[in-house]
Amino acid sequence: MSKGKFIVVEGMEGAGKSSAITVIEQVLSQHGIKFINTREPGGTPLAESLREIVKSADHQEKLTDETELLLMYASRSQLLENRIFPALNAGQWVIGDRHDLSSRAYQGGGRQLDEQLIETIAKVTLKGFKPDLTLYLDISPEIGLSRASARGELDRIELEKFEFFERVHDKYCQLAQADDDIITIDSAQEMNKVHDDIRHALESFLTAL
Ligand code: TMP
Repeated sequence: MSKGKFIVVEGMEGAGKSSAITVIEQVLSQHGIKFINTREPGGTPLAESLREIVKSADHQEKLTDETELLLMYASRSQLLENRIFPALNAGQWVIGDRHDLSSRAYQGGGRQLDEQLIETIAKVTLKGFKPDLTLYLDISPEIGLSRASARGELDRIELEKFEFFERVHDKYCQLAQADDDIITIDSAQEMNKVHDDIRHALESFLTAL
């Protein structure tokens, strides 16, 4: 049995990740491909507890940037070993709502943590593993944040300053451009067009296998 593939959806708050994932699910189902869904941080019971810590705005003390980084990778390690690797080895595909690129963009770009430090922690955690395809939904911080705040209460990271999201966005764009396995989708387009672009990117990926 051949191994499954790992497809990741990335992008800032308000980029439309959830509906993009629905489109991917439809395409995979049409091709008879079995898949599971994951999200990061989270995706296993223990990793979901770490997600709570990372997202909560109610801590009595400041969560340091280094703790935030380490919790993202701790969560990723749990998810990889306990869900993603077993699924891929069993021939199932995995649709990931965020993965390592988020840490590079948010902790590297947004928090401006040392990239060599992130690279070292990523090496220990991922052991060279990377997604087969990443769809990066590109949205400006202006549009993304206004969509996110229209959805309701903001979490600890969503409460960050505008400049934080500008840095996240810049880093996402820079990293997406530098990696052929990352396809950038213009998420500011009309929804139907965004979904067409996602379908097209995925069909091209499937054809090339
Ligand atoms: P979301 O999955 O609902 O978008 O929430 C996850 C939040 O965590 C989002 O603000 C992005 C942030 N995040 C990081 O800062 N670094 C990471 O590595 C990951 C996976 C998420």
